[in-house]
Amino acid sequence: MSQPVSVEIHENIAIIAIANPPVNALSHAVRAGLEAAFAEFASRLDLAAVVIYGTDRTFIAGADIREFGKPVQEPLLPDLINRIESCHLPVIAALHGTALGGGLEVAMGAHYRVAVQSARFGLPEVTLGILPGAGGTQRLPRLAGVDFALEAITSGRQIGAQEALKVGLIDRISTTEDVRAAGIAFAKDLLAEGKGPRRTRDLVVDPVAPEVFEAAKAKMAKKARGQLAPQNCIKAVEGAATLPFAQGLAQERALFQELMESDQRAALIHAFFAERQVAKVPEINGVTPRATDKIGVIGGGTMGVGIAASGLLAGLDVTLIERDGPAALMSGDRVRKTLKDSVNRGKLSQDSYDEILANRFRASNDYKALVEADVVIEAVFESMEVKKDVFTQLDAVCKPGAILASNTSYLDLNEIAQMTSRPSDVIGLHFFSPAHVMRLLEIVVADQTAPEVTATGFALAKRLNKIAVRAGVCDGFIGNRILSHYRKACDGAVLAGASPFDVDRALVSFGLAMGPFAVSDLAGLDIGWATRKRLAPTRDPREVYAEFADRLCEAGHFGRKTGMGYYVYAEDGTRENAEVLDHVAADRAAKGITAREISEQEIVDRYMAAMVNEAARVVEEGIALRPLDVDVTLLNGYGFPRWRGGPMQYADTVGLDKILRDVKRFAEEDAFLWQPAPLLARLVAEGKTFADLNNA
Ligand code: 3HC
Ligand code: NAI
Repeated sequence: MSQPVSVEIHENIAIIAIANPPVNALSHAVRAGLEAAFAEFASRLDLAAVVIYGTDRTFIAGADIREFGKPVQEPLLPDLINRIESCHLPVIAALHGTALGGGLEVAMGAHYRVAVQSARFGLPEVTLGILPGAGGTQRLPRLAGVDFALEAITSGRQIGAQEALKVGLIDRISTTEDVRAAGIAFAKDLLAEGKGPRRTRDLVVDPVAPEVFEAAKAKMAKKARGQLAPQNCIKAVEGAATLPFAQGLAQERALFQELMESDQRAALIHAFFAERQVAKVPEINGVTPRATDKIGVIGGGTMGVGIAASGLLAGLDVTLIERDGPAALMSGDRVRKTLKDSVNRGKLSQDSYDEILANRFRASNDYKALVEADVVIEAVFESMEVKKDVFTQLDAVCKPGAILASNTSYLDLNEIAQMTSRPSDVIGLHFFSPAHVMRLLEIVVADQTAPEVTATGFALAKRLNKIAVRAGVCDGFIGNRILSHYRKACDGAVLAGASPFDVDRALVSFGLAMGPFAVSDLAGLDIGWATRKRLAPTRDPREVYAEFADRLCEAGHFGRKTGMGYYVYAEDGTRENAEVLDHVAADRAAKGITAREISEQEIVDRYMAAMVNEAARVVEEGIALRPLDVDVTLLNGYGFPRWRGGPMQYADTVGLDKILRDVKRFAEEDAFLWQPAPLLARLVAEGKTFADLNNA
């Protein structure tokens, strides 16, 4: 195997190349290679400067996350960076690609920094539940000031070369994109000017008022509720302003270690790898996808408009089809408005907007406009009749090999596929609202879908910058099926004695952005009502059916859109709708239930046990490939708190035996809803975890 760190001598400059694909992470071999190189420089009298750069597509993108949780091997990164900083020769970091985390910390330990125009920088550790633990919290405030450091470290956001130059993080932007040449040129200029080492640790942090840190802690306590890492990040930066460098570094280390040992760190790193793992689907391994340049969208309602905008923002050619001329005109306007909003928010340039409208977008009521489409995505009403009609027409006009996709939320994709003469080209592409913003895409593989078509779904998702999860066919696929189940558990908690407001409060404090009843109000109570009516004929007589939601709908209260649902939406703010409690009381009375005290913990236990239990069925039935596919779905489409890693990671953390005990406990009240999933029971009996299945 070739060495990940190599040194060449160019005239009197030592050039260190780091080659550890794919992202030059600071694995043990890289750290050891750098350590050895700098140890050797100490005795070299022929050298005048050192340049460090990364080969291939990037500088160092951070510590090697795969080593986290394993025994640490020397040299430790903080010590290595101290050694680089102590070097008697001027050390220049030449940066391209992404200098992230430990990579940026190496660069800050160097004495000078030059970057190519396209380089990006950031300390994303907080998004992994840790903090920059190799001096980043001490060196960034010295280079770029406390305010910038606090904001950059607690957000983890990336910045470009211009901003990095402006705040003092880098010294120069090179005119060439050849990073090695840029490093050598800068080194020569520095030597010509007689510049020697310039150590970041010797810089003085500009004084700041202590209130700055208190305000930052209060802000993050609100913004990142329940999360440990942002608080520790702030404490570490505070150390840079109040302690000598060595002590600040020691405190940073202690705060870092505390986070490394937390469940939140494990959960966030699980999320990071799970989001990459979901694309690894055995049936498409090595399969070449078809073209995805031209897409058609049928239906210009909420979803169709969002899907069209998503395609256009990603550079695709989009044809939108509506029922008639006026509807086509109207949906065309809505797409333009969505794009204009992107311009206003600085996400799209005016030039690109003009180019899209001139060349890449059209709305029509004529299906013949789809003859050249590579992929057509249907997003018409959620009605089997309407969808069958659309697919019959698509089959007639689309070119051979075109992919015919449906955005249906619940309907049977196999039945839809049978409407065409080419069921192997039919697939589900289930977007989430708003489709140009939400990152999740469920790729629903029907019985006859060809692997090439599935591979094309994943390729399209990548172009659209979405996270795609493979799902099998069932009512609701992965996400909506699990949602239907845990929503029933929320209704069950209300029948047992909690109010919908208690449920929302408990789950918001658990980490959800919004409680489930508030979400129902937002989505429109009529939507759930329609689904319940659709499923009524097949409802099992043993099901305990909560009726209070139907009573609200019958009174014409559909949530936000009618100004009233579980909550009242008034000009002067939102308040709880007391009428709901009357409907709940009547429902309990009719069922002979005596309300009892339900604690916050019990609400969370019910919610999580229902979610995990149904998810175990979804995995066992092969609807989701692995538990991690469920986690990624819930994290990216349903607002599950990322720092809890998803429901399956949460279940492993609290113990599957605890989840199973809860299922059995609640079954005493409603044996139909709370039937233990066989997979859950089996894992408990075998002493295994969902992680074991992920790794199988
Ligand atoms: N360690 C180990 N593996 C990593 C890694 C890392 N830091 N970063 C990326 N990878 C792996 C990915 O898992 C993926 O592996 P796979 O091909 O087997 O699935 C592969 O590298 C390519 O990654 P992406 O698919 O994400 O490639 P992109 O080109 O889309 O993105 C990136 C590249 C922007 C570098 C992105 O991977 C990224 O954001 N990485 C994480 C960066 C990060 O968080 N750095 C901080 C680490 S913590 C740290 O440094 C602690 C220190 O302060 C002590
Ligand atoms: P919508 O009611 O907002 O839009 C549907 C559009 O389809 C309307 O503009 C209608 O004029 C058009 N249409 C109906 N028949 C047509 C035909 N034969 N040809 C062309 N256009 C036709 O509905 P929405 O919310 O956009 O949902 C569309 C689909 O997406 C449904 O299957 C729904 O289940 C699914 N979905 C909806 C989500 C949501 O949050 N709204 C989320 C994910 C999927």
